[in-house]
Amino acid sequence: MNVAVVGTGYVGLVTGTCLAETGNSVTCVDNNPEKLALLQGGGIPIYEPGLDVLVKRNREAGRLTFTGDLAAAVRGAKFIFVAVGTPELPNGDVDLKYVNAVVDGVCAALKELPKGAPGDRIIVLKSTVPPGTNRAVTERVIANGCSHVSVASNPEFLKEGAALEDFMNPDRVVVGVRHELVGEALGELYAPYCTVDRPFLVMAPESAEMTKYAANAVLATKISFINEVANLCDAAGADINAVRKGIGHDQRIGFQFFAPGPGYGGSCFPKDVLGLIAAAQRMGVKLRVCEAVDEANDAQKKVLFGKITKHFGGQLAGKTFAVWGLAFKPKTDDIREAPALTLIDALLAAGAKVKTFDPEAAKNVKAIYGDKLQYASDPLGALDGAAALVLVTEWPEFRGPDFVEVRKRLAAPVIFDGRNLYAEQEHHLLEAGFTYYGIGRGK
Ligand code: NAD
Ligand code: UGA
Repeated sequence: MNVAVVGTGYVGLVTGTCLAETGNSVTCVDNNPEKLALLQGGGIPIYEPGLDVLVKRNREAGRLTFTGDLAAAVRGAKFIFVAVGTPELPNGDVDLKYVNAVVDGVCAALKELPKGAPGDRIIVLKSTVPPGTNRAVTERVIANGCSHVSVASNPEFLKEGAALEDFMNPDRVVVGVRHELVGEALGELYAPYCTVDRPFLVMAPESAEMTKYAANAVLATKISFINEVANLCDAAGADINAVRKGIGHDQRIGFQFFAPGPGYGGSCFPKDVLGLIAAAQRMGVKLRVCEAVDEANDAQKKVLFGKITKHFGGQLAGKTFAVWGLAFKPKTDDIREAPALTLIDALLAAGAKVKTFDPEAAKNVKAIYGDKLQYASDPLGALDGAAALVLVTEWPEFRGPDFVEVRKRLAAPVIFDGRNLYAEQEHHLLEAGFTYYGIGRGK
């Protein structure tokens, strides 16, 4: 099947590549000339494990191409995926300007073409958009003279760092359609990815749109909840790891998305929780839980800094801190809303110096912070002379450092572990002379 994917970011590039992988002919469109030149030259603008290999294979097989020419890409396509950004406006609402620009461009290219049956040409909204967007886009498409073009909602649930696995083996595929034929056409496209226990779910567009926000909001809620319990553990002298075991083995509760940390980051949870609150407000509904989730997360992003300030009695000026991990989570170079940046800003504002290491995200941080930070080329290199090690992102390479060497390099043996990565080794660390702080470990 012929597919166009507009927007070659984390979602668009993965979607296009994975659709090509099962034999579709995919044209990816982007209007960022640098990104496009890189992709056309065989490069990849983002770090996502395994994506480079899959892009190369599908390009070489002639199933995956990249262009800046939206009109040419969509004229021959049955499915036109819209995977552009939907950033947050200052009031928390979702900015749909990129989505609308693409829809207008698509309509301009399609309006002169012969009209077909529903399902012959489908604009598929893959970007995360608030409930009601499908209806508004449908009206826009009709106003643009393209009543023969259908509009489907198909929210994406992939996680960065595991995006290929998530797309190829989704827990479920959700589509929102107004016409049965549109659902059938998408069902055919997604058949290679779905099984009995990985179902293809068809519903109304409003329900599909709501499903996406509800899924992200419930995951964010779990994280903010466990973060608050962890903070309470600190105050009560309890151990969050013991508590997690105690509650997680209750099958109604489980362990997933219940790891405390420095607050959730990324381009989605923070934006989507606010987007849902704003959409609800417009409909006259107050989402008290989501408001608290967002507030708790803002506070959580300051917890590590609070522990550091307390340990050093507020005397941070002139001290150097080693920060391990800059990306908002491991296995990505994405630093959008990364908790490490909140911490770094606070350290710099307090007059401290910061030496960083991240396996993939350092270049993106350097593009923003430049010489305000130091960038080590390996984890140990960030430690030399630092007053403490602060671990913010749990990359696998940080799991088992040589603690003798860590101790030798640090000016003082102090570790602030924002992910409880070394929690199970705490007694060894204490024996080795370290002062160790985790999240929710009783101090
Ligand atoms: P991104 O910022 O990485 O990529 C967006 C791309 O769209 C950019 O390359 C940009 O140049 C391109 N673009 C913008 N306007 C364009 C236009 N008019 N024509 C062609 N290209 C255009 O965004 P992302 O992280 O891939 O997210 C895209 C959407 O998917 C958002 O709505 C997001 O909420 C949602 N989403 C993201 C993830 C994720 O893990 N990143 C997961 C699920 C859903
Ligand atoms: C998240 C969702 O997991 C995806 O299903 C969704 O498609 C995506 O948002 C989206 O809509 O964009 P992503 O942001 O890539 O995916 O990464 P997650 O693994 O969900 O992590 C988000 C943040 O939560 C990270 O900062 C992570 O460190 C934090 N987190 C996650 C915790 O603090 N504790 C946990 O137990 C899990």
